[in-house]
Amino acid sequence: MGQGTPGGMGKQGQSGDRKQGGDDKKEGRKFEPPAAPSRVGRKQRKQKGPEAAARLPHVTPLSKCRLRLLKLERVKDYLLMEEEFVAGQERLKPHEDKSEEDRTKVDDLRGSPMSVGNLEEIIDENHAIVSSSVGPEYYVGILSFVDKDQLEPGCAILMHNKVLSVVGILQDEVDPMVSVMKVEKAPLESYADIGGLDAQIQEIKEAVELPLTHPELYEDIGIRPPKGVILYGEPGTGKTLLAKAVANSTSATFLRVVGSELIQKYLGDGPKLVRELFRVADELSPSIVFIDEIDAVGTKRYDAHSGGEREIQRTMLELLNQLDGFDSRGDVKVILATNRIESLDPALLRPGRIDRKIEFPLPDIKTRRRIFQIHTSKMTLADDVNLEEFVMTKDEFSGADIKAICTEAGLLALRERRMKVMHADFKKAKEKVMFKKKEGVPEGLYM
Ligand SMILES: Nc1ncnc2c1ncn2[C@@H]1O[C@H](COP(=O)(O)OP(=O)(O)O)[C@@H](O)[C@H]1O
Ligand SMILES: [Mg+2]
Repeated sequence: MGQGTPGGMGKQGQSGDRKQGGDDKKEGRKFEPPAAPSRVGRKQRKQKGPEAAARLPHVTPLSKCRLRLLKLERVKDYLLMEEEFVAGQERLKPHEDKSEEDRTKVDDLRGSPMSVGNLEEIIDENHAIVSSSVGPEYYVGILSFVDKDQLEPGCAILMHNKVLSVVGILQDEVDPMVSVMKVEKAPLESYADIGGLDAQIQEIKEAVELPLTHPELYEDIGIRPPKGVILYGEPGTGKTLLAKAVANSTSATFLRVVGSELIQKYLGDGPKLVRELFRVADELSPSIVFIDEIDAVGTKRYDAHSGGEREIQRTMLELLNQLDGFDSRGDVKVILATNRIESLDPALLRPGRIDRKIEFPLPDIKTRRRIFQIHTSKMTLADDVNLEEFVMTKDEFSGADIKAICTEAGLLALRERRMKVMHADFKKAKEKVMFKKKEGVPEGLYM
C-alpha cells in the first residue's frame, strides 16, 4: 500500500475526480429535502424579489463537509483495495514466470533422454542403490525434487542418462511387457472357422464366457463358476484357434501370453510379470487371461539344480498363487493351453485352480470333412477333386495337417501356373505332409 506505484496514483487521481463530480450532484439532491419544507412555505412570498434568485439555499457547512469527508473516505477505501489488488496481481505474475523457470531448470537437471531402472534399496535421504535394465547395480543420488514418500524398493524409476541419479518415479505404470499382451485387435478367427469341436466350444463358453456375462446364473444354482479351463490335446488340434475365437467373440478384455514369455532373463522378473499380468487383468476386468504353451513354466517340480529351473518354478508358484487368489478374482478367467498335460504339475490342475479340462482329440471323420470344407472354401477347385478320399483315409490327421495339405496343394497348383487346384495336387500334398510328419517321429525308424 505504502509503495503506491505511479500507475496507482494516477488512477487514484482520476477516479477521485470522477467520484467528486458524482458527489456534487448527489449532494445537491441530498440537500433538497431539508430545504424543501422551508421553500414550500416561502415560495409565494419571496419568489418575486430579485434578491431571492441570488440567494443561496441555507446549508450547514459543517454537515456538508462531513458528508464529503465520508464520501471521500469511501473512495479512498475503494482505491486502496484497487491498489492492493493490482499489487497482488503483480506479485502473482512473476510467480508464474518463476515456476516456468524452475521447471526448465528441473528439466535440465533431469536431462532429456532418461533410462528406466529399478530401485533396489534406499540407503539414506539422498542416496539409493538402483539397478538399470542392463544389469549392474549402482549407488546413486536421489534428486531433491523426487517425492521420497513414493519411493519404495522395487518400484520403477527414471534415471539420469549419464550419472544415473534418480530423477523421477514411474508410478502405476503398467509393465510394458504386459501392455503388449492385451489383444487390442480382435483376431479374425471366429467360432465359424472351427470345424467340429462343438462340445469343446460349448464347454469353454460355459466355463469362461457365461460367468462373465451372466454371473447370476451361477449364483442361482449356488456354485462358484470355474476359475479357468485348460485345453489339452495333440498339437494342431485347434486349441489356440479356439482361444482366438473366444477373444474374437468376447467383449471382455483378452490378455494373451505364451508360457515362454514368462521366463525372464533376470531373477524375480518372471514372478513379477505374472503378478503384473493378473493385476492388469483385475484392473481391466472382466477379462480373460490366455496362457498358451503353459508347459514352459508349468512342468512338474523336480529337484531343480540350476538357478534357471528354480526361477521357472518360482514363476509357476506365483501363477498358482495368483490362481488361488487371496483376493478373489471374480471377473478374471484363465485359459491355459498345452500339448503335454501329463507333464504339468498336478498342483496346477487340482480342483479349485484349473478344474475344467477340455480335451481336443484328433478330428474324427465328420470333423475332418468339416475342416476340409473350411479350408478349401476359398480355393478354386477343379471338378475332379474328391476330398472324400482324404476324409476317409486311415492316416491320422490333425486340423493343422489338413490346413497344411490344402495350402500345399494350392502351392503346387501355383507352381504350374494353374488357376485350379486338381485332385493330383491334393494327393501329392498329402504325401508330402504325411512324410514330413513321420520324419519328425522317432518311432518311424522302427517300422
Ligand atoms: N477344428 C479345426 N477347424 C479348423 N481348423 C483347424 C482346426 N484345428 C486346427 N485347425 C487349423 O490348424 C491350425 C493350427 O491349430 P492350433 O490351434 O494353432 O493348434 P494347437 O492346438 O497346437 O494350438 C489352425 O490355424 C487352423 O487353421
Ligand atoms: Mg497352440
